Amino acid sequence: MKHIAIVTGASSGLGREFVLRLDRGEMGPLDEIWVVARRAERLEALERTCATAIRGFCLDLTQSDSFDTIEHALQESDDIHVALLVNNAGFGSFGDFACQDASASRGMMQLLMQAPVELIYRSLPFMHEGSRIINIASVAAFVPQPRLAVYSAAKRFILDLSRSLDAELREVGIHVTAVCPKFMKTEFLDAPGDDEAARAMTVIGFERIADVAHAALKASRAGKSLCIPALDMKALYAISRIAPYELALKIERALGVF
Ligand SMILES: NC(=O)c1ccc[n+]([C@@H]2O[C@H](COP(=O)([O-])OP(=O)(O)OC[C@H]3O[C@@H](n4cnc5c(N)ncnc54)[C@H](OP(=O)(O)O)[C@@H]3O)[C@@H](O)[C@H]2O)c1
Repeated sequence: MKHIAIVTGASSGLGREFVLRLDRGEMGPLDEIWVVARRAERLEALERTCATAIRGFCLDLTQSDSFDTIEHALQESDDIHVALLVNNAGFGSFGDFACQDASASRGMMQLLMQAPVELIYRSLPFMHEGSRIINIASVAAFVPQPRLAVYSAAKRFILDLSRSLDAELREVGIHVTAVCPKFMKTEFLDAPGDDEAARAMTVIGFERIADVAHAALKASRAGKSLCIPALDMKALYAISRIAPYELALKIERALGVF
């Protein structure tokens, strides 16, 4: 049986870090790592860097035929076992909803919500007891975020989806982990949008990509449904579960977040 991991958004930032760690065996031995993103040259560079066999899929995950491509590849491979699926690809756009480009918001919803759902559907028939799914959410999922409205709502979707799926699938020994990082210094922050709104929100601080990937893989191995790597964000999550939304907004305004 061939054991594989599938990592989306593998061409940079957190996704690339996941691939490097999987290559080092942090989730056990793998026969292949399937890496998905639009930039082929970045995926080819990973093939040269990793000791594990890398199979690159140069795909745009806002296009529905991309999921068919991955499903066909799974069906064509003999005796394949998806040990891990990491739904990581994403981008955000800061600024007032009314000033956002509608097509960018549509793309964000496709990439952050539709793509993980499709990839989970396509991968599940190839998973067995012990398989894992990691979905990258965000601390933006904790409370609705003005000036990051579509992104934060989409991240809430993947957070809630992950936890329900984990409850369903744990009976068959498959675990789903939602990961909620705070800001990381990646290309994510270069996306077009309102720079001033982005700067204001980063007041909550940054964490290291390496720390997030390490915590996410550890939580996944332990079968946890939620991973919040930063201690201060764990506290924020606990508060967000009990504080009224209006209070959360007041605190964010006081901090100058929006
Ligand atoms: N950085 C942060 O502050 C932060 C905080 C919380 C959560 N997150 C989340 O962490 C995840 C990883 O982001 P990152 O920080 O590592 O950002 P990043 O460096 O910009 O990486 C984003 C990845 O997504 C891929 N991607 C974007 N659009 C795609 C599309 N249409 N089809 C296929 N792949 C696509 C990109 O590859 P190509 O461009 O080559 O397609 C890239 O590999 C995202 O889900 C993000 O929302 C980030």
